[in-house]
Amino acid sequence: MASHCQKSYLRPDSTPHLNGDTETHLHKKPKIAPTSISDSEIQSEFAHHDLSVARINNGSFGCCPSSVISAQQQWQLKFLRQPDYFYFNELKKGILESRTIIKDLINAEHIDEVSIVDNATTAAAIVLQKIARDFAEGRFQKGDAAVMLHYAYGAVKKSVEAYVSRAGAYVIEVQLPFPVESNDEIICEFRKALERGKANGRKVRLAVIDHITSMPCVVIPVKELVKICREEGVDQVFVDAAHAIGCTDINMQEIGADYYTSNLHKWFFCPPSIAFLYSRRSPSLSDLHHPVVSNEYGNGLAIESAWIGTRDYSSQLVVPSVLKFVNRFEDGIEGIKKRNHEAVVKMGEMLVESWKTRLGCPPSMCASMIMVGLPSCLGISSESDTMMLRTHLREEFRVEVPIYYRAPRKGETSTITGYARISHQVYNKFEDYVKLRDGINELVRAGFTCAELLK
Ligand SMILES: Cc1ncc(COP(=O)(O)O)c(C=O)c1O
Repeated sequence: MASHCQKSYLRPDSTPHLNGDTETHLHKKPKIAPTSISDSEIQSEFAHHDLSVARINNGSFGCCPSSVISAQQQWQLKFLRQPDYFYFNELKKGILESRTIIKDLINAEHIDEVSIVDNATTAAAIVLQKIARDFAEGRFQKGDAAVMLHYAYGAVKKSVEAYVSRAGAYVIEVQLPFPVESNDEIICEFRKALERGKANGRKVRLAVIDHITSMPCVVIPVKELVKICREEGVDQVFVDAAHAIGCTDINMQEIGADYYTSNLHKWFFCPPSIAFLYSRRSPSLSDLHHPVVSNEYGNGLAIESAWIGTRDYSSQLVVPSVLKFVNRFEDGIEGIKKRNHEAVVKMGEMLVESWKTRLGCPPSMCASMIMVGLPSCLGISSESDTMMLRTHLREEFRVEVPIYYRAPRKGETSTITGYARISHQVYNKFEDYVKLRDGINELVRAGFTCAELLK
């Protein structure tokens, strides 16, 4: 992302905005296409947000603009008005249209490679249940290895435990450094884990790699790691990219994974819930099935997933409306990604300057979220402290931000034990981050420590 950085990302119709700049400064900016959405239009698209809250946690649950919510309601009404007609004439066609848009966005080779499912958790179950069948049906042997990142998302780790460990795999976690300075540190740890996996003549059957880790958040050099997996003979590679679409660059043909999933309800403005699951076309990978078996079982994952019983499919049908929404912004989703990245870095730097701390990774290793060190005098000394502090920030300061606990290591000089994960999305304003900055500074001035929250 670093190469995308530009100093200015503001729209010409902005009043004082993220960096507190004024109109005068904005006149220096390059001309923006007149079709660009205005600030007031953005505000009205997100007017349903609780405006008393500085919502700098887009990463957890994403957001959905009101024009897309309206489109979703239209789909729901279509179904309720004439369900039979909807089922026989509209549903399949609509889902195919969404899949086609996604295929183009992610540069998949073929439409059959793209399925729509509820969320990344479901996608992980689909892939890992397939791995379990590979063990159960004798294609893999008990004791074969699987590798995943130590920072893999909790639900995905549980899924590995439920399907892969229980099937007999020897699961190895890649210990990643944090704070992290370079991709090389990650690549080096990944290679070490693969070596451990291959020790004693073991075969490594599966690698689960995050594209953007959740907590702490870091963009993983996924293309390089997939390439290493290929060189080292890893059978199947699953990329959990829950945050990726709309947040960082994704290209299936370049990344080269076997399976890749991303939520569209996090950074692609869809309502909850929708994710795509890409699976590379290959006979050895074709035995993928939706965990909910219905009439379409055996017709390929994309068709199976498009009917898993009577339910609300509207979130899967609004992808064309989302595309219309993002195309109201300069350079569409590419422009949004780029400006979010620039803004979140700027805001992260503003916070570390005020708190005299540091970022969790260089800007080139983050997308639209970044980890910002919190002052050590807050006394964050456990995960439960982070939860209590998060609640305190919500209740006392109206700031929504997740916090990560990073235990001190022996012999370390840095005393930072807590990092806030800040996000930037199109609805965010400079004042949101000022609220967090000033709230933390107020706590520091008052001599607050997390121990107080136990009282
Ligand atoms: C890396 C990662 N994987 C998986 C998930 C699960 O996403 P969902 O709850 O939409 O299934 C998340 C959610 O934040 C995530 O960050």
